[in-house]
Amino acid sequence: MKLPTLLALFALTVAGLAHPEHKLRHWEQASPDPDRIILTWMGNTATSQSVTWRTDTSVKEASAEIALALPKARFDEGAKSYKARTERLELVDPAKVVVHYHSVEFSELKPDTLYAYRVGSGDRWSEWIQFRTAKAEAAPFSFLYFGDAQNSILSFWSRIIRAAYKKAPHAAFSIHAGDLVNTAHKDREWAEWFKAGGWIHSSVPSIPISGNHEYTNLKVDGVDKGKQLAIQWRSQFSLPPASDLPASLAETVYTLTYQGARIIALNSNREIEAQAKWLEKVLSKNTSKWTIVTMHHPMFSSGAGRDNSKNRKVLKPIIDKYKVDLLLQGHDHTYARGHTPLRMSDTESNKIKSLYVNSVSGPKMYDFRKDGWNTYKPEGVLLARKAVKTPFFQVIDVDGEWLTYRAFMANGQLYDAVRLNKLADGTKEMHPWKDGLGKER
Ligand SMILES: [Fe+2]
Repeated sequence: MKLPTLLALFALTVAGLAHPEHKLRHWEQASPDPDRIILTWMGNTATSQSVTWRTDTSVKEASAEIALALPKARFDEGAKSYKARTERLELVDPAKVVVHYHSVEFSELKPDTLYAYRVGSGDRWSEWIQFRTAKAEAAPFSFLYFGDAQNSILSFWSRIIRAAYKKAPHAAFSIHAGDLVNTAHKDREWAEWFKAGGWIHSSVPSIPISGNHEYTNLKVDGVDKGKQLAIQWRSQFSLPPASDLPASLAETVYTLTYQGARIIALNSNREIEAQAKWLEKVLSKNTSKWTIVTMHHPMFSSGAGRDNSKNRKVLKPIIDKYKVDLLLQGHDHTYARGHTPLRMSDTESNKIKSLYVNSVSGPKMYDFRKDGWNTYKPEGVLLARKAVKTPFFQVIDVDGEWLTYRAFMANGQLYDAVRLNKLADGTKEMHPWKDGLGKER
């Protein structure tokens, strides 16, 4: 090895040592300036919008301002101010670091309206950021879906979320199907997730799902509290409160409607039976044309040596009964897309019950289970497309009787696509998408 190479390696090592695990980098540290600004919903997507952000503890009171995003330069004159709810959070990794989270729910907004908002206090404000409320009735829209980001988030996941935004800047929201990070309470990993998404998180609302990696053992003052949801979760995401559900599932199991589509977020880590009861109730009253269930652990595993039999035993009968249109899942670090035919005996028919997808958006990859989904044939599912060693993002378009599902690779190339057509009698057909798709990977 040449001397300059050795010196470069030495410099890299020293640089590495200068950032030991316990020391936060400047962009990881909270300051009086708002950061980690993220849009979510607690309820009505047409008339409300929640925003959450973080500061250091010097900011005791904060607020958010909102105005119609008019074309004129000073659209902000007459902006309405909302006082934020501020909560203190003591981190455990790194330990003893205390931050403040602030949240506001903008309410009584006009449907289908472009707004601009900013968050902050004193002379420390974010930039003005725009978002559009949903229409009050069913109407076409698109959304994004990401499987596990989880590892080397800043380094590797950034290009995925940014490519997704480039492909569908009009996306109404992003579903993150669990394992957003690898180590639930570790703040540096959340710092990466927020830096990777940057202002995409503050302009496109997120629908976050908790995966197994959002649950890690928690020790507080030496006392072991067992596996707990990431301590940042409920402070940094403002999500619908749990009704008819155990308090332990708060802000991890919820439902939202968006322009005629019903989105249902499940927590496949725990208390599946309680969720099944709730799911049955939600689906029995559901009047939306399209229904999408998202959870982390897939109904049909695609990763080698993995299986979630409880999901199939407890949840699948309900999913089948109500013919949920689309299931968006993660966890297996592979790509799989398949479906349950409407009648198990008629596997050639394009009439289907549900479309199932497992996906991954981060760099961690597993082998595909050797027999494909043959193991699950008795359950009536058919595998249509698979991939390994490739991260994806998905753009899903909902438009009247049609739902178009497309999976893209990081270079923006289409890898897989299929369309669902809802017929007048409530059944649905699956149709191929014929635009030039890549070879199976
Ligand atoms: Fe997982």
